[in-house]
Amino acid sequence: MANQNAMPSWLKSLNINNIYFMKDHGEYGVVAAIVIGILLPILFSTLFLGKRRGKVRGVPVKVGGEAGYAVRNARKKELVEVPWKGATTMAHLFEQSCKKYTNNQCLGTRKLIGKDFVTSSDGRKFEKVHLGEYEWETYGQVFARVCNFASGILRFGHNIDSRVAIFADTRSEWLISLQGCFRQSITVVTIYATLGEDALIHSLNETQVSTLICDSKKLKMLDAISSKLPSIQNIIYFEDEDKDASSGSLGNWKTASFSEVEKLGKESPIEPSFPSKDAIAVVMYTSGSTGLPKGVMITHGNIVATTAAVITVIPNLGTKDVYLAYLPLAHVFEMAAESVMLATGIAIGYGSPLTLTDTSNKIKKGTKGDVSVLKPTLLTAVPAILDRIREGVVSKVEEKGGIVKNLFQIAYNRRLAAVKGSWLGAWGIEKLVWDTIVFKKIRLLLGGRIRFMLCGGAPLSGDSQHFINICIGAPIGQGYGLTETFAGAAFSEWDDDSVGRVGPPLPCAYIKLVSWEEGGYKTSDKPMPRGEVVVGGFSVTGGYFKNQEKTNEVYKVDENGLRWFYTGDIGQFHPDGCLEIIDRKKDIVKLQHGEYLSLGKVEAVLSTCNYVDSVMVHADPFHNYCVALIVPSRKSLENWAQQAGTEYKDFPELCSKTESTNEVLQAINKVAKAGKLQKSEIPAKIKLLPDPWTPESGLVTAALKIKREQLKAKFKDDLKKLLSLLRVNGGGGTIL
Ligand SMILES: *[C@@H]1O[C@H](CO)[C@@H](O)[C@H](O)[C@H]1NC(C)=O
Repeated sequence: MANQNAMPSWLKSLNINNIYFMKDHGEYGVVAAIVIGILLPILFSTLFLGKRRGKVRGVPVKVGGEAGYAVRNARKKELVEVPWKGATTMAHLFEQSCKKYTNNQCLGTRKLIGKDFVTSSDGRKFEKVHLGEYEWETYGQVFARVCNFASGILRFGHNIDSRVAIFADTRSEWLISLQGCFRQSITVVTIYATLGEDALIHSLNETQVSTLICDSKKLKMLDAISSKLPSIQNIIYFEDEDKDASSGSLGNWKTASFSEVEKLGKESPIEPSFPSKDAIAVVMYTSGSTGLPKGVMITHGNIVATTAAVITVIPNLGTKDVYLAYLPLAHVFEMAAESVMLATGIAIGYGSPLTLTDTSNKIKKGTKGDVSVLKPTLLTAVPAILDRIREGVVSKVEEKGGIVKNLFQIAYNRRLAAVKGSWLGAWGIEKLVWDTIVFKKIRLLLGGRIRFMLCGGAPLSGDSQHFINICIGAPIGQGYGLTETFAGAAFSEWDDDSVGRVGPPLPCAYIKLVSWEEGGYKTSDKPMPRGEVVVGGFSVTGGYFKNQEKTNEVYKVDENGLRWFYTGDIGQFHPDGCLEIIDRKKDIVKLQHGEYLSLGKVEAVLSTCNYVDSVMVHADPFHNYCVALIVPSRKSLENWAQQAGTEYKDFPELCSKTESTNEVLQAINKVAKAGKLQKSEIPAKIKLLPDPWTPESGLVTAALKIKREQLKAKFKDDLKKLLSLLRVNGGGGTIL
């Protein structure tokens, strides 16, 4: 259901619609495929079945704190705290890892070969780059650079008792800076680039950052707001290969390039000053649903705990693996992933969302994208990217039509049946055949070697999960975690092919469901215990920076000294100990007659309607019904208008027509009934909005989740009107 228009621009630029992925195989392939597809399953269908289903992955556990239904990872009796003895902080872990893997490839970056600009038909200029092979540094070499930077930043004049901030795109120097600061026990503040200028000013001021590390392309913007950054004294910028930003004076700051700082440290080293496990490693700013971003205080202990836990759940991580790093490092998901890679001696190749595939926007025609050159074995993704890959493949198949389409459909359906468990074909020869004649080409889209994908950030639809499993041929580990739990809460296991769940608790934490009586979710519910998801363990962070009040609201320490974080998510535990997130506390509204309405649940049902691209359901305690704002699918609505003979000037006018509203209302009533919604859960009134909700407009997050507060503020008048247009007759809640 991903709405293409609502894609963040970097996501759009993946542009996988243009991939060339499948040659016509001709009749021979089809005949062979059908014969093999029918015969083999019959031969082999007695083997293999059902082994992985029913495997217990999480078990109930007795814990302290508030009463609830608590579960731990089935494989670990005690919580995991460190990956190995002595790795109590990221500084220790990194040094030990570098010693162990001294001569292995560590960080790789592509060299810029050439660059030019292409002008599109509407006159806009696009930069295109030609990038070369990856150039690698070993763990030993990277360690030397980290040591140099750790010394250099102090020689440059950074006061060791103040904080450093990193505000830059993901690249190897980002990680080197981070590790360098860790070696001197310097706390690093991270700010997500898309949070905007106000958020940046707020975060830097709140944490009193004195040294800011950034991309050279951000210097200009920083200079413009320099009067609002009173705490900043030093700037260190990452050089671009193609231009040298002038150092020297910039907003009265002392400025140096990254390599100048490395040189300073190399020439006059300073002894490291290792942190303790409870020291704050990172203050990570994340967007709140309202107002200014919050800084989450992440300790060294939190990072090593999540790292240790993830290592136990992904099989055979090691020096044979190659990881493509391209998501923002200021996001907890990527920082956790790269920590795992460093701990296991894996080669990390850096890329960017704009250069990911051969047809990505910034890649010069005829040259290679990051995946094609790196051929990673491990990849992280957010659901929006996987949805996009799926759409790209499907539309390409449609376009080709004929034999290609038929063959793809046979193959896909056979594999889907196998994955869903009605056949054994999941691992047999049949799989090999389909992979060879159909899916191999699709796999090249991601380099052809992916063996495991990590997915997080938002729930992944079951359809997309199956699609990626089958077409890319790799299991997906879905993670559930928040910045407040340094990502580490739950993680689905590689051999679990069920969909819609986030796996058992990671071995670094317990997950407890706590009844929420008011909202109607109880741990005594049948068939599964339900309640608010509360995470307790070594990955639970120290709270919000300079915000004790908010910290006390959502963090608690139990009688055993274990920290718990109240997530505000509602979950249920399956009998095998896997968690499923089913709702969000904030999204539940008490209606006039005391019934609870789950906005998220209703939205999930309504978004299955083909007219609906985006939807926000709204309700309040003064009414007995809900209303909805809907961005209709332009294609579906225009198709309907054509068939119904409705005339209109443009799309906004079509959206404003009563006929259109009625048509969509009817359609959502149908899906609501099919989705077993109660009467009060079906929007009584809707308004169609022609403009898509995009991350740029601030109405949805980068992962395309709606931002309720922002939408409510923007469409305040519309919502008021929708609610007031209805009158309710006294007792029964019947809408007139
Ligand atoms: C920085 O924070 C202080 C309070 O700690 C506040 O008084 C000041 O206005 C802030 N400055 C900016 C530029 O936001």
